[in-house]
Parts: sequence; structure tokens; C-alpha cells
Amino acid sequence: MTHVVCPGSFDPPTLGHLDIVRRAAQLFDRVTVAVLINPDKSGLFTVDERLELLRVAGSGWANVTVDSFDGLLVDYCRRNSIDAIVKGLRAVSDFEYELQMAQMNSGLAGIDTVFIPASPEHSFLSSSLVKQVARYGGDVSALLPAQVTTALARKLGR
Ligand code: PNS
Repeated sequence: MTHVVCPGSFDPPTLGHLDIVRRAAQLFDRVTVAVLINPDKSGLFTVDERLELLRVAGSGWANVTVDSFDGLLVDYCRRNSIDAIVKGLRAVSDFEYELQMAQMNSGLAGIDTVFIPASPEHSFLSSSLVKQVARYGGDVSALLPAQVTTALARKLGR
């Protein structure tokens, strides 16, 4: 059985993230979506809120579970018998940093990273851009699961 992790900040989860998780769930036996607890960055949504949004959005996928982690991703992988890391790649600009992280994680623990290319309709999409557009009143509902759109509007006091 192949167990993979889709790690990230997910602040908040977008349709781009969910597309990668869905496709990973078709390729591998078990997928854990792991939200980073980052003590250096508080984020717009709390980690618990992100977990709940991911749980609701991924509730239809039987082999997907949601969790949080702190510290090194490779240590989380070791503790949970995870075989590989799955990351989405939106553009060549993502590749340089993702390759560095993949090589570091491989060097630290021999854990490989599998890259899944983002679907073209999500190639421009990031949580940071979504938050920026939403803060200025732009419509981001086509980029987010419905419950994330609602939660974001509430968070921004709309
Ligand atoms: O959604 P993000 O912010 O691009 O996700 C980055 C993430 C969480 C995958 C990365 O920052 C990470 O793995 N952090 C955990 C700490 C760690 O293992 N750092 C070394 C990476 S080589």
C-alpha cells in the first residue's frame, strides 16, 4: 500500500490544492493532507480552521485524511510510515524551489517527491493571491470550494 502526503500551508485551501489531492488519491492508495503548523507565520485562518475546511472539501474521497504537523516534514513522514511526498507544480518558477526541497528531503530521509502538474486552469492560482484579491473586494468564488469562499468572506468581515 502506498501512502503519500500532500503538505502545505493551505491558508486557505484552493481548488488548485484540491485538484492535486484528488489526482493523488486516484494514483495512490492513501493520501494524507498535512497542514504545516508554522510558529513564525500566523496566517489568516487558524490551523484548526484550515483542517476543517479541508475535511469538508475532501469529504467525498474515501482514501484521503487530513492532519497537521510541525517540525520537519520528513520526520512526520517517518512517524506515519509515509512513502512519498506529493507536490503540485504550477509553473517553471515553482520548480526551482520545489526541486531544492525535494532534494533536501531525499537527502535527509530518502523520501522522494512526486510532482503533479497543476491543471492549466489553476496554474495562476495561489492562496496568497486569492487573499489579496478578496481583501480588495474581488470575486474569488470560482477559485475556491464553496465553503472556503463563505469562510473567507466571513473572515474578511463581508
Ligand atoms: O504551501 P507551502 O507553504 O508552499 O508549503 C510548504 C511546506 C509546508 C511543504 C514546506 O514549508 C515544509 O515542508 N515545511 C516543513 C518544514 C521542513 O520540513 N522544512 C524543510 C523542507 S526541505
